[in-house]
Amino acid sequence: MKVGIIGSGGREHAICNSLKKSNKISKIFCFPGNAGTEDIAENINTDLNNFENIKNIIIEKKIDLVVIGPEKPLVDGLVDYLEKFEIKIFGPNKIASQLEGSKIFTKKLCKKFNIPTAKFGIFHNKIEAEQFLKETKFPTVIKADNLASGKGVYICNNEEDAKLAINEIFDGKFGEAKNLLIEEFLKGEEMSFFTIHDGQTFKKFGSAQDHKRVLEGDKGKNTGGMGAYSPSRLISKDLEYKIIKKIIEPTLKGLSEIGTNYKGFLYTGLMIVKNEPYLIEYNVRMGDPECQTILPTLKTDLFDIILSCCDEKLNQVKIEWFNKKSLCIVLCSNGYPDRFEKNIEIKNLNKIKLKKEDFIFHAGTVKKNNEILAIGGRVLNFVSVTDEFNLAKKNVLNNLENLKWNYGFYRKDIGYKVIE
Ligand code: AMP
Ligand code: GLY
Repeated sequence: MKVGIIGSGGREHAICNSLKKSNKISKIFCFPGNAGTEDIAENINTDLNNFENIKNIIIEKKIDLVVIGPEKPLVDGLVDYLEKFEIKIFGPNKIASQLEGSKIFTKKLCKKFNIPTAKFGIFHNKIEAEQFLKETKFPTVIKADNLASGKGVYICNNEEDAKLAINEIFDGKFGEAKNLLIEEFLKGEEMSFFTIHDGQTFKKFGSAQDHKRVLEGDKGKNTGGMGAYSPSRLISKDLEYKIIKKIIEPTLKGLSEIGTNYKGFLYTGLMIVKNEPYLIEYNVRMGDPECQTILPTLKTDLFDIILSCCDEKLNQVKIEWFNKKSLCIVLCSNGYPDRFEKNIEIKNLNKIKLKKEDFIFHAGTVKKNNEILAIGGRVLNFVSVTDEFNLAKKNVLNNLENLKWNYGFYRKDIGYKVIE
């Protein structure tokens, strides 16, 4: 079969790499992919906003199944559009994607179904929101409603910070804002929990802890993710049961009450407070870099799993994992998450001798005239899968040092909670 993957990040390279191992796949196309996917698939340079063009290429290349990596095309309704042409596609539809596309949609669902989450209020203008601050305890959390690549969330320690956040959001920093959320600050430890869904049933798909802040010690600005380890140190049968019963099942019930269901990966972002899960956010896709961290530990053929979801037969597949620890560190361009230079060559990549358990997944890279150039904020993901987190970290740091790329930086403390 021929498979298409939509997206160009580390997550999509990792998905491509896992699918490549399946003997049922004859060819993979990446829309648009990166320098890493180019080595194992055919990259097709397309604008992901142009659904008609994507559809035409899928039909012309006779692609049998399409996997969507990032949130934007999901929230914009690419699944609904392609399904009209009877294209087999793995990902949630536009209504279900509101779980990520609108924080207010999710919060209202939590309220209706008693899903544990931070207490919140929805405000429609600056005056209402600023009025509320007078009775707010700090720190408090202020969030833009729309997709903001993880950047539309402010943790505010005082009224001044909060007013700034309210102004930035209503002034349109993250696109037109009709409302915003003010939320209770939850003190606990974060965890990402993944499930895979076929519209009828779902199965667990690993856990991880991401490190979202740019600086060591979890300081500095929020980013897309600087590194992760899997499984999360917090996961247990008991916690898993609570997450499924108190959060995921009521959410699916809520979707079915509005006449839809869920197909695809679901990322449940949690704060664990005294072994109780609270929903912080949903993402309607795999995490990045969690995907790069988790997929190398999957034993079962990823293509079989995804195909079974498209055919509503996930209950017939047993998902098996290697009992290993995985750790990923992201190499970023200097300046990220703010301004950074583009088109800088990354030499030495092919000189790194990777062990069997080590991987390098590309993110913001492109190949031009046989040179690999960095074009994104997050550039490469170094992963190692071993029996111990500290050994995985040692392998990753060793490979990063051997690259000797002077134009980037990375956090050396990924996994500190589980290693120290
Ligand atoms: P989000 O985009 O909603 O995941 O928020 C980004 C980050 O902000 C999360 O990963 C948390 O670290 C933090 N955060 C969001 N909401 C809360 C909350 N209610 N309490 C504490 N931290 C939060
Ligand atoms: N690593 C966070 C995310 O994928 O949203």
